[in-house]
Amino acid sequence: MSKINNQSFNQNVLNWYDKHGRKDLPWQSAKTPYTVWVSEIMLQQTQVKTVIPYYKRFMERFPDVLSLANAPQDKVLHLWTGLGYYARARNLQKAAQVIRDQHQGKFPEELEQVIALPGIGRSTAGAILSLACQQEHSILDGNVKRVLARYFAIDGWPGNKKVETELWRYADELTPTNRTGDYTQAMMDMGATLCTRSKPKCDNCPVQLECLAFVQGRQAELPHKKPKKQIPIKSTYMLIPMWQQQVLIYKRPQSGIWGGLWGLHEIENINMIENLVTSLKLGDVQQHTLDPFRHTFSHFHLDIQPIVLHLKQHPTNIVMEDSQMWFDLAQPQSLGLAAPTKKLFSIIGASF
Ligand code: ADE
Ligand code: SF4
Repeated sequence: MSKINNQSFNQNVLNWYDKHGRKDLPWQSAKTPYTVWVSEIMLQQTQVKTVIPYYKRFMERFPDVLSLANAPQDKVLHLWTGLGYYARARNLQKAAQVIRDQHQGKFPEELEQVIALPGIGRSTAGAILSLACQQEHSILDGNVKRVLARYFAIDGWPGNKKVETELWRYADELTPTNRTGDYTQAMMDMGATLCTRSKPKCDNCPVQLECLAFVQGRQAELPHKKPKKQIPIKSTYMLIPMWQQQVLIYKRPQSGIWGGLWGLHEIENINMIENLVTSLKLGDVQQHTLDPFRHTFSHFHLDIQPIVLHLKQHPTNIVMEDSQMWFDLAQPQSLGLAAPTKKLFSIIGASF
């Protein structure tokens, strides 16, 4: 591809951005690497509309790297409750601690140093440094992958390593040396508002004339989908030990699903219920089965059977530790709760 073509591509994209791009999102005023970083992490797999209130609350509570690094993890996860993909929040705080301990509290401005931080890949690092520091780096997030896969009519699933390498090559070639930050934002906006997954608005698109997917009428086919695999179904019983308005919950280990969040005790097999009642020292309980429901992760379905265990006497024997507590449904504490736990609490009448 010749340089002249690249220039017309990025000029067309920038001209479109000047007229139609989004410029008033909360993370677009007073841009710093920190504000751009937090917004980019929240915007991964989550829509702008959903992110906005979370972003505002997060910035009020954690206005800078140090306040985030020094916060209790529960506070960070609490502000993330409902956004999902909690590894993002844990990594965000881990990275803030690395910046505090290894970069004198100042967000690094070298691409390789940014990529070395937990939870930041090459595209996010490029977005942060181009948007906040006007450095010349390209990005390749889901939106840009879709635009480029269509524009160049690239076959294959963009998550495939070979396809991704090819897309990076195009992304690098097209990214201009001037106004790189605006170009980054423009490509994200084009992907989000014009070159959408279904029914792209090609008639408003500034690169329509050279877009191979448009010329060949292949917008619906490209980019190719991930080859489908069946995901397995697992099942579990979730136990809800209750004394009046209080439910016994525990803090889950950092690794595995819902890592670091608070959740309900689980058993795989209904025969294990007696064991758990004994080991938790619940005393006499009355069982009450709630309707089962399914929670789906990217790699499996989890069928959940909730069982309420009403304690018959005041639970004086239960040892409280750092990893176990009574959660008051009438006055919910600010904690990061696993999604199904939160759902169950709203079913049994918490006032969230
Ligand atoms: N999606 C990912 N990053 C974004 C940004 N900076 N603006 C709008 N949508 C985005
Ligand atoms: Fe996407 Fe259509 Fe523009 Fe091609 S012409 S880049 S398919 S919006």
